[in-house]
Amino acid sequence: MVSDKTEILFATGNRHKIEEAKEIFTKYDLSVSQLIVDGKRPHLSEPQTDSIEEVSKSKIQQVREIISGTALEQSVILVEDSGLFIETLGGFPGPYSSYVKEKLGLSGILELLRNNSHRKAKFMAAVGIHHNGKNTFVVGTCEGRISLEIKGSEGFGYDPIFIPNEADGRTCGELSNEEKSLISHRGMALKEVAEYLISRQSE
Ligand code: IMP
Repeated sequence: MVSDKTEILFATGNRHKIEEAKEIFTKYDLSVSQLIVDGKRPHLSEPQTDSIEEVSKSKIQQVREIISGTALEQSVILVEDSGLFIETLGGFPGPYSSYVKEKLGLSGILELLRNNSHRKAKFMAAVGIHHNGKNTFVVGTCEGRISLEIKGSEGFGYDPIFIPNEADGRTCGELSNEEKSLISHRGMALKEVAEYLISRQSE
């Protein structure tokens, strides 16, 4: 049963992702917090694959094993894997977005696209939920383009170089959390997951 007292446990170390999930779930009277086991955030490995859905599936599996036999065994678990896919680079960095951001930085990505007018890109998020013994996965997409310069200090990751089609020309780094959640890949997927949970409220 899901009620407003049910705590959804999000297995992530990214505080921005948790804030974005809170932004969405609050609207559905659902509560979300970070998954902590034995006082720490469990380490989840990411399989080498080009599919963010596969990574999400692996994360759910790992979390289920970690909480098996603990007081958290029956909890509603949320996982997510996401990335930036740049069309002219064949979808790079995709599932490797986190590593590439760390190594190249935002300016490294802008450098890769220097003098390139084809700047189409998309963010994608594969969100997985474990509820009542069942895993459900939802993919959210946010289409846009890579900016010519780094702009804004909101959000995280590639936000300051990504201009979503559905906004007014600002980068995600210039949008508030609320504005971003209305149109973002994660916002879309989390909204669907929240509606799924609400629809099963009586189970
Ligand atoms: P992971 O899902 O934790 O493996 O990492 C996804 C990476 O993709 C993040 O570390 C960011 O670099 C990038 N990314 C995913 N979603 C977003 C977003 O909403 N804004 C900016 N960067 C993102």
